[in-house]
Amino acid sequence: MGKHYGWLVALILVIAGGGSYLAMTKNSVAQDDDARTAIVLTAAERNLVLGEMRAFLESVKLITQGIANKDMKTIQAAGRKMGMAAAAGVPPSLADKLPVSFKKLAGATHKGFDAMATEAADIGDEKAILVKLGVLLNNCTTCHSSYRFEVETARK
Ligand code: HEC
Repeated sequence: MGKHYGWLVALILVIAGGGSYLAMTKNSVAQDDDARTAIVLTAAERNLVLGEMRAFLESVKLITQGIANKDMKTIQAAGRKMGMAAAAGVPPSLADKLPVSFKKLAGATHKGFDAMATEAADIGDEKAILVKLGVLLNNCTTCHSSYRFEVETARK
């Protein structure tokens, strides 16, 4: 009887051990299984774009607060900051590496920020600005589900 339990315990340990090994393997496979298209950039290029991304989010924050506080000046400034003028800072060598659909979404996003600034300067209707913000955020989520960045490994 005691002997049988010994085998049973050993068997359970093997199954449990194998199970957790499989689970670990599965986890790292899942991490690699990224459906987004990788855009390969230099570290400096990636840092530039990610910095712009954080500035996008900063402006979204200010615009949301501006809507809540009926503060059209803040919306104007935050919108213009990330408008088409901000896109001019992208070097041609970086622009060449970005897929056309990426650039289209990025352009629509910059235009969307300008549109909110224009609305804030014009009639200043909070609801209209909020609707534009919703449309704009759709660009963010669409692009985020399609693309990721990868830093090219240095070759010597
Ligand atoms: C044209 C494509 C595109 C658009 C549009 C876009 N993003 Fe991004 N964003 C990316 C990519 C690609 C990354 C990096 C994702 C990765 O590598 O995993 C990123 C990363 C970010 C990050 C992380 C920054 C960091 O330091 O790691 C933030 C925050 C962000 N985006 C905010 C936004 C916001 C807010 C908007 C909309 C106003 C937006 N993005 C629109 C493509 C886009």
